[in-house]
Amino acid sequence: MLAEDADLPLLTHDDPAFAGDRFHEVLDELASRTWLVRSDLGYLVLGREPGMALLKDRRLSFPAVELLELQGLSDGVIYERTTKGLMAQSGPAHARLRRLVSAAFTPRQVERLRPRLRGYLECLWHEIASAGRCEAVTALARPLPSMAIAELLGVPGDDALLARWSGSLQAVFDMDMDARRAEIEAAYEEVREYVLDLVAMRRQQPGEDLLSALVHHEQDGDRLSDDEIVTLSASVISGGTDTTESQLAHGLRLFSEHPDQWKKLGDDPALAEQATQEVLRFEPIVPFTARLVREELGVSGIVFPVGIVLFVCAATANRDPMTYADPGRFDITADRAGAQVLSFGFGTHFCAGAHLARAEITEALAFLAPRMRGLEPDGEPAFGTPTGIYTMRSLPVRFTARDPG
Ligand code: HEM
Repeated sequence: MLAEDADLPLLTHDDPAFAGDRFHEVLDELASRTWLVRSDLGYLVLGREPGMALLKDRRLSFPAVELLELQGLSDGVIYERTTKGLMAQSGPAHARLRRLVSAAFTPRQVERLRPRLRGYLECLWHEIASAGRCEAVTALARPLPSMAIAELLGVPGDDALLARWSGSLQAVFDMDMDARRAEIEAAYEEVREYVLDLVAMRRQQPGEDLLSALVHHEQDGDRLSDDEIVTLSASVISGGTDTTESQLAHGLRLFSEHPDQWKKLGDDPALAEQATQEVLRFEPIVPFTARLVREELGVSGIVFPVGIVLFVCAATANRDPMTYADPGRFDITADRAGAQVLSFGFGTHFCAGAHLARAEITEALAFLAPRMRGLEPDGEPAFGTPTGIYTMRSLPVRFTARDPG
């Protein structure tokens, strides 16, 4: 049966209360009845198995270019960079770029950053410890990721610049192109000049950073062009900042709402890696990953014609009761049997920065939990909307500072 003829529940996103607990209540209730719902944006795939199968299926692709065309853009620097970016590629072109990037962006690159991350956390903590309260997005979650990306690219100290560019580059997803176009274009131009300068320097004098690795890595006679390195750097700057900020902010919010879990982590910071996994599972900050149907396909008796946009839902897949016992409980010591969370996507476009994001969140939780004792809300948190990147706008918290010795 064609999807449009199927009798499916309808979900509308324009309810401002569609965030926080209500977001999960609505989705979990729907997921208990059906794997597919119609929405004002397309179709939402709530089931874990069909979702994973679709993310692996090469008959679908990420609609990066179509998203721009929808906003009336079919040329210019934004269009050009987006069409060349990793997310817009598929098939052999994507596989080639991913191979070259993965060989440069290794777990070793991430391990190199851990001591630096701890140093940054010391500085951020120093600013808030004596007050015993802070707005945790501005004080902690926002600064750390751009510091990490600056270190990754070998430009420590340029974090404020990268944060500004990230904000502008991310605006391509805001569906507000008329208002933001000039700002986004300027950011692309600035990033291009900045990265080309760095590439020229690293070619002369390589360091340990990601840019040096991208410039010097060669595989079977193939290497990334300067232009490809520019595009990739723009993806790292834009894809590696708001995402990790939001995930860390939601994580701190969850712990402020679950004091027993925060105490457990504070008493045993070695649980931080497991705690990060539970944060990622419980509140994936890309709750829906878009895919465009490029060739007609059938799933469980439903036929999706070419051109349909499907949103695979990590928020319900990560709470699938067949995969996780008591999935609605936030529990950092629960045995989740190593089941893969869909928070970084799945399949060919699996997040290229997942190791780095995990390291940042793990280091932050391991550092903060033993020091920031008795973390609790200090007013109402403000949630962003859970389409695109599910941000936290503000998170006022209070705590008792302790020196763990
Ligand atoms: C908690 C933080 C993060 C989350 C939740 C996240 C999530 C995601 C998701 C859901 C995708 C798309 C998967 C798909 O559509 O199948 C993705 C792709 C990507 N992410 Fe992340 N991300 C995070 C951090 C980062 C960081 C730190 C970087 C870079 C340093 C990064 C770089 C990328 C890139 C380059 C892609 C495109 C991969 C491709 O198309 O092959 N992300 N991420």
